[in-house]
Amino acid sequence: MDVYGLIGNPVGHSLSPPMHEAGYEALGIDAKYVTFEPAADGGAAAVEAADRLGVAGLNVTIPFKQDVLDAVSPDPLAERIGAVNTIDFGDGTPTGYNTDAVGAVRALEHHGVDLSGTAVVVGAGGAGRAVAFGLADEGMSVRVANRTESKARDLAGEVPDASGHGLAGLAELLADADVLVNCTSVGMDEDETPVPAEALHGELAVLDAVYSPLSTRLLRDAAEVGATTIDGAWMLLYQGVEAFELWTGEDAPVNPMNDALRAGL
Ligand code: ATR
Repeated sequence: MDVYGLIGNPVGHSLSPPMHEAGYEALGIDAKYVTFEPAADGGAAAVEAADRLGVAGLNVTIPFKQDVLDAVSPDPLAERIGAVNTIDFGDGTPTGYNTDAVGAVRALEHHGVDLSGTAVVVGAGGAGRAVAFGLADEGMSVRVANRTESKARDLAGEVPDASGHGLAGLAELLADADVLVNCTSVGMDEDETPVPAEALHGELAVLDAVYSPLSTRLLRDAAEVGATTIDGAWMLLYQGVEAFELWTGEDAPVNPMNDALRAGL
């Protein structure tokens, strides 16, 4: 039996175990997915320990995504993003990937969104970095907007064909954009939105990385103007689908994984 898992602190509320185990069950793969909660300074040591214990693969979440870089050989995208959320142990040095980037891309593709135009990424933290690099790799022109403008400019300096902005000019940035992704935490605790409703329009596809709640104010505002709306569970699903495929080499059974994920939300 193969053992996969997640390290994070805290990990108590994680939906990754039911999502991945639904995938194993659907494909008849003899595997388990378990969660580990190392001390906050123990990320890299946990990766080494998991390797020695014969764990086949690990997902990595807050606060360890940067810390584990030293314990793995990152693939080029994870290296550019500067964060790892998926580790494949295999033989020799563990390889680190960042499936958050591809997760956003695949969530948009699942909804038929064309990824050749302009995207506005709101937020320049960990999620914003991953999504900006992921969309740029698809050929999108990326505008990063962040409350702390200097962080948006710094990130845009690393991403090809990107520009960095504050939040004040969002309406102008969005006017001719095709895709909007919220990568801030705004909307998670309160019914607030990082994007004024007046800045939204019906030609946009709006993906909200916030998945708790699923129906954020941003997505409700976006639906009201006729935009395509994609909730945060799709991004969570596809980062997991991508990890599943890296680990097993099989096409992931997306529907059972999606059902298991949404049953837990
Ligand atoms: P994550 O890993 O989820 O991206 P993070 O790295 O802490 O988390 O980043 C949080 C993001 O949400 C940042 O872009 C942050 O903006 P700042 O860089 O200016 O801090 C953004 N954010 C958090 N609270 C916000 C708020 N009330 N309004 C606007 N942006 C906010």
